[in-house]
Amino acid sequence: MLNLETTYMGIPIKNPIVAGASALSSDMKNLKRMEFSGVGAIVVKSLFEEEIELTRFKFEEEMEAFDHIHAEMTSVHPHIDYKGTKEHLYWLQKAKKKVHVPIIASLNAHNLETWVEYAQAIEKTGVDGLELNFYELPQNPDTTAEAIEQEKIEVLQKVKAAVNIPISVKLSPYYTNMANFVKRLDDAGADAVILFNRLFQPEIDIHEEEENISFDFSQSSDSLLSLRWTALLSPVFKGDIISSKGIIEGEDMIKMLLAGAQSVQVVSTLYKNGMQQIEVLTKELEEWMKAKGYQSLEDFRGNMAKDHMKDPWAYERSQYIKMLLSKENL
Ligand SMILES: Cc1cc2nc3c(=O)[nH]c(=O)nc-3n(C[C@H](O)[C@H](O)[C@H](O)COP(=O)(O)O)c2cc1C
Repeated sequence: MLNLETTYMGIPIKNPIVAGASALSSDMKNLKRMEFSGVGAIVVKSLFEEEIELTRFKFEEEMEAFDHIHAEMTSVHPHIDYKGTKEHLYWLQKAKKKVHVPIIASLNAHNLETWVEYAQAIEKTGVDGLELNFYELPQNPDTTAEAIEQEKIEVLQKVKAAVNIPISVKLSPYYTNMANFVKRLDDAGADAVILFNRLFQPEIDIHEEEENISFDFSQSSDSLLSLRWTALLSPVFKGDIISSKGIIEGEDMIKMLLAGAQSVQVVSTLYKNGMQQIEVLTKELEEWMKAKGYQSLEDFRGNMAKDHMKDPWAYERSQYIKMLLSKENL
């Protein structure tokens, strides 16, 4: 019997497959199917500050002002998806009661007070942990990278001080010095970092000459940036490294575990292949482990992380130069 047990933001889970935040988690049937398929944990879709604002002011037009900040909410789940904060908190409570795997909430706010207030409200629902979704596109050219990062660190510190549940941080890959920022998150007590969220990019419709947010799901090739940073950061980060983005097949997940991930988040593959993909991923992991003679994740986790590599620079500059200068690759 293989042992797939691992942790997710310090919480013991039976296998490394975690359903990431998405609208799939708004439906109890989906939650039950995920549980039935053996998911390790579930992250419920985010509560956005825009929803909180809407609850406060009840002005539908307010939505327009925030379009650039949460593209997926306004484009994929337009106004009808908005339910209100009470309903969201009630839903978390219900999910926690009905589904018997760890339930993690997700929050995306802007103001420090909102982060703290809603982290506390979310903790009261009984969920097992909270993911801070640091998703934003800075547009003010006078704001420095340092100021942006410092603000995020402060959010984490204040939330950690206000609640007792584990706190993870989901990042975009666009921080100037990822290693430094993640180290500071580590020092501020992050129980996990999720590498990475996916920013939806705006497109232009040349016929209508208007903005058009093109939406597509991830593919395996989208996972390589997360793979690189998982391998670089897993030997040094004290909490759990959770890899995300483009984990579609079992092989994508196995690479992340080899690079040192504690567990992985999947979303696109569940949309594309259904909740039963969790079983497929589990089976593919087990078959690979059997073929390699591994009994548990600890037997191979991190074998390809930076500190275990024969060539420790493989993820870094020398590979890049070798590739560009070698004629064999062309
Ligand atoms: C339809 C859809 C809805 C999403 N909603 C959320 C959300 O509410 N909160 C969040 O943090 N991420 C959200 N995401 C991002 C995913 O959680 C995930 O980080 C991203 O899709 C990358 O993983 P994947 O490559 O497995 O899809 C959403 C993604 C999709 C496709």
